[in-house]
Amino acid sequence: MVDISVKYLGLELKSPFIAASSGYTYDLEKIVALAKSGVGAVVLKSLFEEQISNEINYLEEVSADYTENQDFLQHYVKEHSLGKYVQLIRDAKREAGIPIIASINCYSLDNWTEFAKEIEKAGADALEVNIYNIPLNGSKCSSEIEAEYYKIVQSITQGIRIPVAVKIADSFTNLGNFVSGLQGHGAKGAVLFNRFYTPDISLKSLKIVPATPFSCKAEYLKELRWIALLSPAMRNFSLSASTGVYDSSSAIKLLLAGADTVQLCSVLYKQGPFVVQDFNRELKEFMKSKGFKKISDFKGMLNYANISNPQAFERVQFLKTAEQYSKEVK
Ligand SMILES: Cc1cc2nc3c(=O)[nH]c(=O)nc-3n(C[C@H](O)[C@H](O)[C@H](O)COP(=O)(O)O)c2cc1C
Repeated sequence: MVDISVKYLGLELKSPFIAASSGYTYDLEKIVALAKSGVGAVVLKSLFEEQISNEINYLEEVSADYTENQDFLQHYVKEHSLGKYVQLIRDAKREAGIPIIASINCYSLDNWTEFAKEIEKAGADALEVNIYNIPLNGSKCSSEIEAEYYKIVQSITQGIRIPVAVKIADSFTNLGNFVSGLQGHGAKGAVLFNRFYTPDISLKSLKIVPATPFSCKAEYLKELRWIALLSPAMRNFSLSASTGVYDSSSAIKLLLAGADTVQLCSVLYKQGPFVVQDFNRELKEFMKSKGFKKISDFKGMLNYANISNPQAFERVQFLKTAEQYSKEVK
């Protein structure tokens, strides 16, 4: 018998595979189906900062002729959006029987501390904070931007007891330093990496159009490198891999690199919730074939600290690979 249970953010999960935050996890029926097929936890769709601020702006516009108190309007909208979200947390907790991780997607401090408290009260087991701010101001330096992230993380984590993971992009000047800073400001884990909505250009209409929201298979290699590099350095801090995981092989590789959990999103859209059963079964088969009894027997086995040739993760490897491929050019 092999045991595939893991600890993530201090929570006990029966599988390392987590349903990532998306429209898929905004539907109670799908959340229950995911739980039945053996997912370790579900991250609910994010409550977006824009969802709240857009509603406020709209109501302010339509009520401009009235003498209504603006503070009351703002309060009403926040209660309304948050109320629906809090209900989803309660329903998911009651029906799914697995850890439920709420998610907020924000770019400023605003009222998130207050919302996080409501989310905790509703029974969420943890909170994933997705901070996403495209730096359009070229005169702002990276340390100022990072300080803004830290301020949000600190103010949220200080106000609640449930663990907080921060979902981040891969583009930081020194990712290792930044992730250590997240821990220093109260986060219990990080999700590497967020995959942002990306615009594309239509050559037909000569307009900006949304690119597909779904990832490609090879994208998991990006977090494989960073999890392998960061996992030996982080203590009492969870790392969750996200993006480009379409099969159990890439998920197992991410565990070997040191991920505590692996998040699935595009594969659920394309193959449905029961694909998680395949992931769990194939993980168990892999473990049996290699003689591993529990996940900790091999988690991080191939991280930066544990391999005999750490250069495999470094810049020098690029030179060797480029040389090899240049010989193969037709
Ligand atoms: C349709 C769609 C909606 C998403 N919504 C959210 C969201 O609300 N919050 C969030 O943090 N990530 C969201 N994501 C990003 C996913 O959680 C995930 O990080 C990303 O899709 C990469 O994982 P994948 O390669 O398994 O798809 C969304 C992704 C998709 C495809």
